[in-house]
Amino acid sequence: MAYCATASPLHLDCVITVRVNGQAYDVDVPPDMPVLWVLRDVIGLTGTKFGCGIAACGACTIHLDGQPIRSCVTPVSAIAGKSITTIEAIGQTPAGRKIQEAWIAIDVPQCGYCQSGQIMSASALIASKPNPTDADIDAAMAGNICRCGTYSRIRAGIKRAAGEVA
Ligand code: FES
Ligand code: FES
Repeated sequence: MAYCATASPLHLDCVITVRVNGQAYDVDVPPDMPVLWVLRDVIGLTGTKFGCGIAACGACTIHLDGQPIRSCVTPVSAIAGKSITTIEAIGQTPAGRKIQEAWIAIDVPQCGYCQSGQIMSASALIASKPNPTDADIDAAMAGNICRCGTYSRIRAGIKRAAGEVA
């Protein structure tokens, strides 16, 4: 749901209802503001990270109705009335919990900056394919960059979590 009013000839403000991690928020922002900005600067959920801002690194990955999307290039108007999930709540899903347990068990992160995006993509993968092939993992994780090069541990973490999703 969105209610918009022209505050000035140059500035359009909207009150947009977004549903984040099961909670509804009315945010008063320009409709083209990226969801990442709304999450971090308006709602105060800073677990989702800014990396490139052009959908090229995956650091900002969230779920929209269960599907991974890049929040840095998604305008907030596109999620009006829809449900999104962020890293703060992914552990409440069976797939997210198993991925996080596997990440801890084998110490996947190095600096950690990319890892919320990695976990969001990996969780979406095993939620839809509980026993992914190597090709499935390659396809699902190709857009998530890790400057620390933790790719082998990410793959091992996904394989550890695979098949354990209730
Ligand atoms: S910050 Fe969104 S993909 Fe890099
Ligand atoms: S763990 Fe450092 S960028 Fe991925």
